[in-house]
Amino acid sequence: MENRLFTKDTQAIFWNNNKSAIQRMLDYDYVIQREKPSVAAIVAPTSSNKFEKFFYGPDEIMVPVYRSTKEAKAAHPNADVLLNFASFRTAYDVTMEALDIGGFRVIMITAEGIPERLARIMNHRARKEGVTIIGPATVGAISPGAFKVANIGGTIENIVKSKLHRPGSCGLVTRSGGLFNELSNIIALNADGIAEGVAIGGDRYVGSVFIDHLLRMEQNPDVKYMILLGEVGGIEEYKVIEAVKSGKIKKPIIAWCIGTIAKHFSSGVQFGHAGASANAERETAEAKNAAMREAGIHVPTSFNDLPKVINEVYNKLKKEGVISEIEEPAVPEIPKYRRPKNFICTISDDRGEEATYAGFPISSVATPDTGKTIGDVISLLWFKKVYPRWAVDFIETVLKTVADHGPAVSGAHNAKVTARAGKSVVESLVTGLLTIGPRFGGAIDGAAYYFKYAYDNNMSPKEFVAYMKKQGIPIPGIGHRIKSVRNPDKRVEGLKKYAAEFFPSTSLLDYALEVEKETTAKKDNLILNVDGTIGILMVDMWRALGYREKEIDEFIKSGTLNAFFILGRTIGFIGHILDEKRLAMPMYRHPWDDILYDVQKAEEI
Ligand code: ACO
Ligand code: LMR
Repeated sequence: MENRLFTKDTQAIFWNNNKSAIQRMLDYDYVIQREKPSVAAIVAPTSSNKFEKFFYGPDEIMVPVYRSTKEAKAAHPNADVLLNFASFRTAYDVTMEALDIGGFRVIMITAEGIPERLARIMNHRARKEGVTIIGPATVGAISPGAFKVANIGGTIENIVKSKLHRPGSCGLVTRSGGLFNELSNIIALNADGIAEGVAIGGDRYVGSVFIDHLLRMEQNPDVKYMILLGEVGGIEEYKVIEAVKSGKIKKPIIAWCIGTIAKHFSSGVQFGHAGASANAERETAEAKNAAMREAGIHVPTSFNDLPKVINEVYNKLKKEGVISEIEEPAVPEIPKYRRPKNFICTISDDRGEEATYAGFPISSVATPDTGKTIGDVISLLWFKKVYPRWAVDFIETVLKTVADHGPAVSGAHNAKVTARAGKSVVESLVTGLLTIGPRFGGAIDGAAYYFKYAYDNNMSPKEFVAYMKKQGIPIPGIGHRIKSVRNPDKRVEGLKKYAAEFFPSTSLLDYALEVEKETTAKKDNLILNVDGTIGILMVDMWRALGYREKEIDEFIKSGTLNAFFILGRTIGFIGHILDEKRLAMPMYRHPWDDILYDVQKAEEI
């Protein structure tokens, strides 16, 4: 692995939501039939998106989006390449932060114009830590058939034409990205394509230089010979000459330094790249070409002769049996027209022979012989996880606990009145469900939110009660119309007993019970109610299951906890509605004597 820049398992974190470049990487992945996408995550600091959709062949896939490199790396520890597509203003900070985080093997920096002083600091630090920097000012690198950085190689048609979709036997190093593409094409026409290629970038101070890559390629068994395309300016080519002379590099090298035209100008001309300007005779393309030729490197007489030399070296190696014939792989076609999908489903799939819940065929969870219960089904369909028995059983205990609380409670009453008005099961049920809210049954999310907030912020129970009073908010999960210290809610007792026996820890519940002591000291009925107990214990459950705080907060924010009451109480509401239907009760009218009429005659204004 250390000898190869990338493999088919390499995954990158892409800094900046550069959709077209990422799409090109995924198109490449599809063509070479990678198992995992080459982009594991995107970092987009100002985005509120959780993922971005991309085409993968004719289908679409989702790539997660994070606000920081730190978050992305924590969620994708195996992604050891950072593709830094930040602007020249930000690229330095992004690189330095990635080096602080650690775990990146390769960092590629595309920005052009990073101040040279900063580039040197950045390059020096990376080299010290053994991190390969590619760039700045580069299109990157490619290991054909394994991994391709962003736009290198151009369009997918060009990639296939240049045989960059499967490994060949040349190791290619250039400065320029444009010439890299040109060379890939020449190599495809005159030899069998490339095994690994890097465009090191055009800036004066780039993080890795020719010799770094050539030494690695010398060790890479896929590389049989190397091509170096240097340019006027700098002395990096001399390090290569040294390595050849000392025997560190034994594989054949073909090289050419562009910029021989420079000698026809009277003063030092700088070409397109910041580094492409000769400051001394030694740095001219002419001098470097001559020195390389002298060291035994294959140097053509002109750039026009380069294809011929490549062909000669390639044929020789083939004759010697160093290079063998490549069997051309089939190239899956990317459809011309692709339609983005309007809906996404991540929980179930009905397309196969048998529908699945989070990957489990229904038959594997439905019948009693599977040993699975409704709690298991909820863990699959609501949380896309297989929860352990104690958690699954807790979910079921909650559902059974809240299934009904008699006809007098707000929701059941409304459902009954609606059924008696002649409405259907679904209409009556919906009426009952619509009653669930912050006062009745729907205080579970609020309870989890506020108790968690108070506990995490180290508020004492007294401080928490005072805080909520100051906010003017009744503490969700505290108080009951009929239950009290003297008339305890047996449902709450049951849930607490279950948790004490089966939960690994109940720290939030323990805290809530201290809060309850404060509130019941004020008023007998300000007990920790059934909503509160459920919300708080669910947080304890998720913490014990290893969820991150952010995930738990998201569950709370999206109303997941109230959903347990909604689902459980649906059972009771339907019972009451069917009861009404069976009894064929007439329409209900509330008695006058139960209403206080206080109607004044309206004044004219
Ligand atoms: N936190 C702090 N103080 C409270 C709370 C509370 N949650 N609930 C009531 N109080 C106080 C009131 O401020 C009031 O104080 P005061 O006498 O000093 O003025 C006193 O208790 C009585 O208030 P009421 O609103 O008359 O209390 P009631 O007993 O009628 O209300 C209710 C019960 C609606 C459940 C209430 O306690 C509440 O809103 N709780 C929070 C919401 C909640 O948890 N709902 C779920 C209940 S369980 C279920 O529905 C399945
Ligand atoms: C319920 O479960 O519906 C309640 O605890 C509310 C109530 O008033 O009994």
